[in-house]
Amino acid sequence: MEFKGRDIISIKDFTREEIDYILKIASAMEPIAKSGSDMLQRKTLATLFFEASTRTRLSFEAAMHKLGGSTIGFAEAKTSSVKKGENLADTVRVVESYADVIVLRHPLEGAARLAAEFAHVPIINAGTGAEEHPTQALLDLYTILKEKRRIDGLNIALIGDLRYGRTVHSLAYALSLYDVKLHLISPEPLQMRREVLDTIKEKIEVIQKTEIEETLPEIDILYMTRIQKERFPDPAEYAKVKGSYKINLEMLKNVKKDMIILHPLPRVGEIAAEVDETPHARYFQQVWNGVVARMALLALVLGAIK
Ligand code: NCD
Repeated sequence: MEFKGRDIISIKDFTREEIDYILKIASAMEPIAKSGSDMLQRKTLATLFFEASTRTRLSFEAAMHKLGGSTIGFAEAKTSSVKKGENLADTVRVVESYADVIVLRHPLEGAARLAAEFAHVPIINAGTGAEEHPTQALLDLYTILKEKRRIDGLNIALIGDLRYGRTVHSLAYALSLYDVKLHLISPEPLQMRREVLDTIKEKIEVIQKTEIEETLPEIDILYMTRIQKERFPDPAEYAKVKGSYKINLEMLKNVKKDMIILHPLPRVGEIAAEVDETPHARYFQQVWNGVVARMALLALVLGAIK
C-alpha cells in the first residue's frame, strides 16, 4: 500500500484494505490529536475553497496544526485571483509552489480530478459539486467503526437528499466494500444517483423507500442529510421536498437501544434539537472524528507514516 504523494479524489480509488488501514491510522491519531506532534513540521497545507464550509476546512487546518504543520489558503474565491478570471489549472500550478498538499472544494464535478492533472503535489477533494466528498466518507466510516467496533453486519440507512448530497455518494460507495444492508430513504425526486446505485447494487443489498417509519426499528446507523437547496435547478422543485424528514423524540420510541444517528452537518431541521440529548445522537462526536481522520490522511499522503 502506497499513500505518499497520492491524490484523494474519489473514494472509489481505494480498496477495502486501504480504507481499513486509513481507519487504523485515524485511531492511532486520537492521543496525538490531544498531545500534539511535530510529524508534519515544515509542511504546508493549502486550502482552496470555492464553496462554503465550516467543518471540512477548519478540521483540515486543525489536523495540520496538531501535526506541527502550517496552513495557508482562501475560504472564498472572490478574494483570490479567480475573481480576475484565473482558471483552476493555473491556480493550482501557482499554489503548489507554496504548499506540499492542496485541499480543494469546488462547485463543479470533476474539479478535483482536473486539479490533480495539473498539480505535482497531492490534491485532496473536499467536495466537488454533488459528486463526491471522500474525506467525509472516511470520517463517517471511522465514526461507525469507533461506535460499533465493526462495519460488517450493520443495517445502515441513508436518509434525505441522495441525489444532490455528495457525502452520501462517497459513503455509499465506501459501504459497498463492506457486508452491510443499505436502506436508501428519500423523496422520489431525490433518489440515489443512478451511477452510484448501479455500482453498489452489484455488491450489497440495497433497499429503496420513501417512508422512514417502518424501517426505523431495524436500523443500527441512521445517517441524516440536509436537502441541498443550493443545487436545485428550480426553486419550485425544492419547495416540494423541503422538510421531508425530521427526526424527533416521538420517532425514536421503537428504535434499537444502541442505534446511533449521524449527520455530516450542517443540519437545517432534519434532526430536532430535543434529539441532541438522547444516547442516539453522535453528530457532534462525528466532528472530532473528522479531525483525526484528516490527520491520518495528511500524515499518509505526506509520507510521515507509511
Ligand atoms: C457537507 C458538504 O459540504 O457536502 N458538509 C460537510 O462537509 N460536512 C454536507 C452539506 O453541505 O449538507
